[in-house]
Amino acid sequence: MRLWRNSAMSRPRAAGPPSSRVRVASADEIPPDTLRAVATDVGPVVLVNLDGDIYALEDRCSHQDYPLSAGELEDGELECAFHGARFDVCTGRATQLPAVVPVRTFPVEVQGGEVFIRLD
Ligand code: FES
Repeated sequence: MRLWRNSAMSRPRAAGPPSSRVRVASADEIPPDTLRAVATDVGPVVLVNLDGDIYALEDRCSHQDYPLSAGELEDGELECAFHGARFDVCTGRATQLPAVVPVRTFPVEVQGGEVFIRLD
């Protein structure tokens, strides 16, 4: 017989759709002005800590699909390491060629020092 350490896990769940909120990191793993790549059910995501606020974007440049997590933050934007496209960290909007298509963003919640994103 398996015993659950967390008693909340043994309680019956409320009826409804499954939650798409997933824990992806601890907040202290993403210091200010850094990036961190994480794997999710919808593909790779890059977490960005911009001035203490954490954002989540699809980790795939809309130009040629290279990972944005290989890039760096420049003036509050995420710059792709491969051909120099830039993206608004908050909205995913492409702000510099050669990319013209935005990248997907995900809502982020930080709770109890843990980072969660919504995948729906
Ligand atoms: S793959 Fe990002 S700019 Fe080309």
